[in-house]
Formats: sequence, structure tokens, C-alpha cells
Amino acid sequence: MTTMSARRLAGIIGTGPWASPANESVAEAVVRAISDGRVPVGIRLPSERELAAGIGVSRTTTARVYARLREHGFIRTRRGSGSVVEIPAVPGGRIDHLLSPVGPGEGLIDLTCTATTAPARVREAFAAALDALPAYLPGTGYYPSGIPALRELVADRFTARGAPTHPDEILITAGALGGAAVGLRALLTPPARVLIESPSYPNAIATIEAAGGRGVSYPLEIDSAGRHFWDTSAMGEVMRSNRVRSAYLIPDFHNPTGALLPEAQRPALAEELERSAVVPVFDESLVELGLDDHPAPTPMAALVPDSITVGSTSKIFWGGLRIGWMRIPRHRFDAVASARLALDLGAPVLEQLAAIELLRDHDAIIGDFRRRLREARDGLAAAVRAHCPDWQVVVPSGGMALWVRLPEERSGALTAAAARHGLALVSGPNFAPAGGLDGWIRLPYTVAQAELDQVAPRLAAAWQDALDRRAPQRQERARIVA
Ligand SMILES: Cc1ncc(COP(=O)(O)O)c(C=O)c1O
Repeated sequence: MTTMSARRLAGIIGTGPWASPANESVAEAVVRAISDGRVPVGIRLPSERELAAGIGVSRTTTARVYARLREHGFIRTRRGSGSVVEIPAVPGGRIDHLLSPVGPGEGLIDLTCTATTAPARVREAFAAALDALPAYLPGTGYYPSGIPALRELVADRFTARGAPTHPDEILITAGALGGAAVGLRALLTPPARVLIESPSYPNAIATIEAAGGRGVSYPLEIDSAGRHFWDTSAMGEVMRSNRVRSAYLIPDFHNPTGALLPEAQRPALAEELERSAVVPVFDESLVELGLDDHPAPTPMAALVPDSITVGSTSKIFWGGLRIGWMRIPRHRFDAVASARLALDLGAPVLEQLAAIELLRDHDAIIGDFRRRLREARDGLAAAVRAHCPDWQVVVPSGGMALWVRLPEERSGALTAAAARHGLALVSGPNFAPAGGLDGWIRLPYTVAQAELDQVAPRLAAAWQDALDRRAPQRQERARIVA
């Protein structure tokens, strides 16, 4: 087991001076570093004595720090093997992939995830799926590529959107993330470099690494109004100078910025990819979530023949279905299907049947959802502007979250403070493939209205709290620099 040295930990959490009481400030800094992923789960922390020397506090203080971390489930201490970082046990087990410093408690608003509760139609779809199930029971139930009727429906949707697709080019997966994992495994010969936007979807960053890839980040550009955008020739340069082999891109209502790659730029991106011989994975998880009146974006698959597209029912219907898909060029299908068989043998039949029901009713469901999301987006943007006037709020044209610029690089501190105000957030650095982004925070607008109404006041209180806990010397320095 690897041990983190006191020097390294001090480099991450700082060396003070610590706001009083010091044990609380230090513990908070460690929790923040764990939630940001800078102190990884499974690593052994330095001894209390070493840490005390490293960060300029007494041994009694570090003993209290470790006791606090233990009490809140962030470390497990065993005689002889030291204190090892772990994830707090969460009753109900919701907050799993992204570490949150808090579990879902009474009055906690969970903004760690861009996802909603299931619409009523999901329950009906499962009831209909149960009725359809007997026809499948005489078979083995193994559909490694997916149930034919579902593959057909998904293919038809691609065709209708402008990317002619045969059902044989569709593979049903465990969500879009499952699809991305399979696609990257099939495409990459480690250690291959993979282009990824910065910021990007945190689980995709981890998925690239798990597939043996090394993320090469392309930082999205920001215009004078604070909107993120792509510069396709700059992307081309990054691809060529880093000898990138693949890419993971979210051109449609990108998570977390909500940015949409304009129609006019799509052929240019296709050209850059082709010129650099890069075979990309396009993540279309959010493509249906355009919230302003613009035409549906052209699928990148229509412009980049040698590409893989992943999509999902998670964002349009319900994440609990765990049904997604891949669109794969024919010459790659066998390799991708084999990569999939190394992971699992297919998606569950009942969920696939429910997905069929829901896709048949797609337009009505999505229409309602978009209306609700639009209102939530506008309401949250207005409330954050009113309560936190020095934050830079851009209203995205789609997606499920605001990506907000903070007046200071204190997203981690804000996340820790927000937990004390009943708000679970994911800090900006989680979205950074190559570090940074502590000046940003993602605010999903997917929770129920009653909760959404409380978000901005809690954020304002948490921000004040985070500023109040700033180390005095840091404030001094900040004033001089400014
Ligand atoms: C861009 C993106 N891809 C994939 C996912 C996960 O999708 P799924 O639940 O289909 O695996 C998300 C969820 O937030 C996402 O934002």
C-alpha cells in the first residue's frame, strides 16, 4: 500500500496558518482534497507526528484531525497499518462514483449528479415490458448485441436524425458510460493518447484511464460573454502535436458547460479528426436536451464515418434503466463486440423491453421534460445571479447544469462549506482531466422545484462561510496582489 508523505499532503492542503479551531480547518482541507481526488482512496496518510511537523501544528491537533476524519468515515485506522483513506459509507448508497463529503441526510440537496427522478411513464413501461417478457422466456435471455427490436428502434432514430444506420451497427450497452468503456477498450492499444475536452465528464476521464488511455486535454475556449466554445483548428494542432489516436468528445450540450458545437463547425471538426487519423468516441448522452429553439444537431456520425457514437436512455428517461447504445462502423463491429464480451454478456431483457416502450413514446416524454428543464434552468440562473452577484452565470442552450465561474479559485472550499449548509456539490477540479478548474462549480438544475428554490440562498451562505474560513495570511496576500 502506498503512503502519502507529510510533505506531499502539505503540498496539497497547504501549511497554514489555519483558521481556528485548527483541527477543523485541517480536517476540512483533507476532506476537500479527498473529494477532489487529489488524495486518492486507498492511500495511507502520514503518521500524526509527521503530519504535525509537515503542516506546522501540534501533535494534539493532528490527533484530533484524524479522529474527525475517522468519525466521518474518511479514514480507517488499524494498529500497525496506519490510517487509510476511504469513502464514507452512505446509507442508501447513492453518492458513489463522485465522492461527496456528505451523505444524503435530512434536508440535504444533492447536486452531485445531473439526473432526475423517473417520470410516471417509466413505471408504465415496466408494466408493459413485463407483459412482453413471456415471449422471451423460452430463449436463453442472452442478447450480447441487444434485443433486435431495440437495436432497430435505435438505428431508426439515428437514420431519422441524418446518420443512416442499420440495426447491425447498433450494440445495446449498460448506459452511455458502458458504451464509452467498451469503445475505448476496442479502439486503444495502450498507452494511446486520447483527446478529451477540459472540462469534461469526470467518469469519462476515469474510463479513458481504465482503458489504458492517456487523456490529452483540449481546454475549451471561453468568449468575452463567458461562453465555452471549440476552436477546431486548435483541436487539430493538439491532436497532431500529441500524436493522439482517439478522442472522447461531447459536442452536444457538453457536460458540464452545456455548450453545443455549432452546425457550421461540425464538418471542420470531422476534417481535423480525419486529417489526424483519430478515431473518436462521440458521447451523445445529452443530445436530446436542447432547451432553446434550435434545430436538432447533426449527428457527428454522419460526418465522421470511422467513429463510434454512444447514447443513452439515462438523461431522457431514467438513469435506473441502465440502457444505452453504441453506433459502430461495420468494419469495427466484431472487435467492439468482442471487447464488450470481455466485460459483460448483454443488457438485462426486462430493461431493454422497457426501453423499447419508452422510445416508442419518445417525443411526448422528451417534450414534457424539456419544458420542465427550461424553467428550472432559467429559475436557477436568475436565483444564483440574485444571491451571488459576483459569480459569472452563463445560461447554456441545453443540458442539465450551469457551469458557473466563481470570483475566486475556491470551488473545493465552497464544496466543503456547502456540505455544512445541506448542499452536496462536486467541485470544479473533478471535471479537469489535467488539473485546475478550482474557480468553477457545476450546478445541476435537475432536482425538484422545492429543493431548487433553496439552492441559491444556501450557495450564498456557503460561499460566505468559505470566505470567512480563509486563512488570515492568505487574505493579506490576496489583497496585496490585487
Ligand atoms: C456526458 C455523459 N456521458 C455519460 C453519462 C452517463 O450516462 P449513462 O447513465 O447512460 O451511463 C453522463 C451522465 O451524467 C454524461 O453526462
